[in-house]
Amino acid sequence: MARSLTVLGIAGSLRQASFNRGLIRAAAEIAPAGMRIAVHDLSSIPLFNADLEAEGDPEPVADLKRAIADADALLIATPEYNHGVPGVLKNTIDWLSRPPRGSALNGKPVALMGASPGVTGTARSQSQLRQAFVFTNSYAMPQPEVLVGRAHEKFDAEGRLSDEVTRKFIAQFLDQFVVWIGRFAAGSPTTAR
Ligand SMILES: Cc1cc2nc3c(=O)[nH]c(=O)nc-3n(C[C@H](O)[C@H](O)[C@H](O)COP(=O)(O)O)c2cc1C
Repeated sequence: MARSLTVLGIAGSLRQASFNRGLIRAAAEIAPAGMRIAVHDLSSIPLFNADLEAEGDPEPVADLKRAIADADALLIATPEYNHGVPGVLKNTIDWLSRPPRGSALNGKPVALMGASPGVTGTARSQSQLRQAFVFTNSYAMPQPEVLVGRAHEKFDAEGRLSDEVTRKFIAQFLDQFVVWIGRFAAGSPTTAR
């Protein structure tokens, strides 16, 4: 039987009625058999400060680093603010990127999603995140891209993703993520030298 996968899900929004939190919840509901998505909240992550870091990671940061290290992969749902990654999420990635080359993100498979009321569905924010993951040496799945535009038409009043086409697409995306994670699993073929 295939090993079960633990995926850590984070949304780059602190808003209770956030579409991106809704996306992560939907992914957790839709996850294929053998994949469990554990949701982690970012509201207690402090602003990055190298002086704080020098005293040792604050507990919420240490907790998140442990959760990522223990997970097989990371799933992120990002909003887009001013054509880029919201500070809440970028700040979290800055903490997680430390120490460089030895961070919890090093070698971690990642998949990205995003939702916004606009038509581009966080395309620019996701592009910026992919750049950050080059530095952290994280393996961001290139395709499929989950760009949920006109989000206000796709979630119900309780913040549940109600659009069936989008739910089906996320199911297919998660199936592809299983394959992507498998590429980096221990025992996968590597180069000969
Ligand atoms: C400061 C700010 C900047 C924003 N900039 C963009 C933007 O560049 N592109 C976009 O599609 N939406 C933008 N929006 C709208 C967000 O996509 C929208 O508020 C969305 O609901 C945020 O995600 P959430 O629902 O997960 O909190 C912006 C919103 C805020 C508050």
